[in-house]
Amino acid sequence: MSDVWVWLCLLVVGQMGGGLLGEVEGLGVNWGTQATHQLPPKVVVQMLTDNGIQKVKLFDAAQYTMSALSGSNIEVMVAIPNDQLSAMTDYKRAKQWVQHNISRYNFNGGVNIKYVAVGNEPFLQSYNNSFLNVTFPALQNIQNALNEAGVGDSIKATVPLNADVYGSPQNNPVPSAGTFRSDISGLMTQIVQFLNQNNAPFTVNIYPFLSLYDNDNFPVDYAFFDGVSAPIVDSNGIQYTNVFDANFDTLVSALNAAGFGNLTVLVGEVGWPTDGDKNANLNYAYRFYNGLLQRLAANRGTPLRPGYIEVYLFGFIDEDAKSVAPGNFERHWGIFRFDGQPKYPMDLSGQGQNKYLVAAQNVQYLPKTWCMFNPNATDLSKLADNINYACTFSDCTSLGYGSSCNGLDANGNASYAFNMYYQVQNQDDLSCNFQGLAMVTTQNISQGNCNFSIQIASSSTRGRSLLAWAILAVSALVLL
Ligand SMILES: *[C@@H]1O[C@H](CO)[C@@H](O)[C@H](O)[C@H]1NC(C)=O
Ligand SMILES: *[C@@H]1O[C@H](CO)[C@@H](O)[C@H](O)[C@H]1NC(C)=O
Ligand SMILES: *[C@@H]1O[C@H](CO)[C@@H](O)[C@H](O)[C@H]1NC(C)=O
Ligand SMILES: *[C@@H]1O[C@H](CO)[C@@H](O)[C@H](O)[C@H]1NC(C)=O
Ligand SMILES: *[C@@H]1O[C@H](CO)[C@@H](O)[C@H](O)[C@H]1NC(C)=O
Ligand SMILES: *[C@@H]1O[C@H](CO)[C@@H](O)[C@H](O)[C@H]1NC(C)=O
Ligand SMILES: *[C@@H]1O[C@H](CO)[C@@H](O)[C@H](O)[C@H]1NC(C)=O
Ligand SMILES: *[C@@H]1O[C@H](CO)[C@@H](O)[C@H](O)[C@H]1NC(C)=O
Repeated sequence: MSDVWVWLCLLVVGQMGGGLLGEVEGLGVNWGTQATHQLPPKVVVQMLTDNGIQKVKLFDAAQYTMSALSGSNIEVMVAIPNDQLSAMTDYKRAKQWVQHNISRYNFNGGVNIKYVAVGNEPFLQSYNNSFLNVTFPALQNIQNALNEAGVGDSIKATVPLNADVYGSPQNNPVPSAGTFRSDISGLMTQIVQFLNQNNAPFTVNIYPFLSLYDNDNFPVDYAFFDGVSAPIVDSNGIQYTNVFDANFDTLVSALNAAGFGNLTVLVGEVGWPTDGDKNANLNYAYRFYNGLLQRLAANRGTPLRPGYIEVYLFGFIDEDAKSVAPGNFERHWGIFRFDGQPKYPMDLSGQGQNKYLVAAQNVQYLPKTWCMFNPNATDLSKLADNINYACTFSDCTSLGYGSSCNGLDANGNASYAFNMYYQVQNQDDLSCNFQGLAMVTTQNISQGNCNFSIQIASSSTRGRSLLAWAILAVSALVLL
């Protein structure tokens, strides 16, 4: 009885804390641009503003993005992609980068840059150590160049790292036993020491969805924030009811073991995808954010790090040209669809008052025409090849097992593939032929939950579309 009373009091206090705070202090989002068709940068910045988002993390320092952000006062993390890290091991090049991509925007009414992300998850094991030798020198050079340019006090260099740079031993899989991965522990210690010296944060990407994706036996409830029947009890007595806390605290323990237990930790990416896997759907994404955002707003932190955590959601908008090497869900991480429409209700202020976010304004679509399988086609011998071609140069990830279009029949599959290709090609007439197997229609051929979409018009971004097609081509899908 008295236990229940204490619990209720705690709840009330917790809610008052949240209420006083009013919003998730400094919630950020990741703005990725690996899409064949992009909303104009100004439209995206307006979406950020309309939804009260004050921080954004980028994956490069593209001029069109930076120009759109200037004058907005939104805090920005700009980035140096992995393929430029090796160039940045030359201090002169690093100084040029800072001059061109930081100092240039550093004026009243310019861009409010807070961080430079040096690389993106460069130590992922799937990169085969390719960036092991260049990341730390690049980090040092960039921070030193920032310092030399006189902006080092307000702009910090950091390295967004994947959560597989640390872990707990298999025979003691608890957060308090966390250490850096043994093959890079020396390097990680040097990096952490340098970050600490420069008052820069450690940046980590944490993905409860991937815990579930990677392991069929993973307890589903543990990926979310609404409680589990059997918490994990650490050797220090702390109980963990969700993998986000457990993962974060494993990092805190690793930092502690390296001698820098107080280093600020920023979560560079966290989120939930909505298609492309059996666990990637609107209900789970809703549940995940509903729990996460309320915890963040209440400044609960984790057992080892109570208090405010700076967090960037991944991601802002779906990207149909991302590599699907990690899985088909990669193109569906957005809290908005490709055209800037919100997917599910959420409350970024963390008060649990979930409603649809403010959509993109003045979005220009291509005409309402679709490409479909021609039911009168007689020679079907080339059908599989044509579907394969269509899916290689467009996004068919919604057709896979557990995805929104998995229930289509064979003709539906063909129509879906043909339409995605036709839309990516800006509805060019020649792109809806497929050796006589396809035809154009003005009927909306969507079926049930499977949306046959119309692309947005994006004439101003044609150059980048070409680049995105190249990316698509190398990540060719063999779905069918
Ligand atoms: C500035 O950033 C852009 C975009 O990431 C990059 O292409 C360019 O090389 C950078 N400029 C310099 C001088 O390094
Ligand atoms: C890493 O090595 C594996 C096996 O040798 C290879 O299949 C893969 O393409 C390599 N990845 C990269 C990014 O080099
Ligand atoms: C990194 O440096 C080590 C030691 O100098 C060298 O053996 C290794 O080949 C280098 N790795 C890469 C990917 O350049
Ligand atoms: C870490 O922070 C705590 C609380 O502010 C402080 O008591 C402790 O001395 C700090 N430890 C180190 C190693 O700086
Ligand atoms: C398919 O063939 C039938 C019979 O010849 C015809 O009535 C129909 O219009 C054709 N449909 C299409 C889409 O060409
Ligand atoms: C449609 O495509 C999906 C994805 O490749 C496949 O699982 C399914 O079996 C196909 N359906 C038919 C009827 O061919
Ligand atoms: C097509 O129909 C689907 C399902 O009814 C709907 O969600 C979608 O908005 C429609 N598309 C267009 C372009 O009208
Ligand atoms: C379907 O696609 C259209 C674009 O053609 C988009 O406006 C709409 O929001 C999408 N609906 C769903 C439910 O995905």
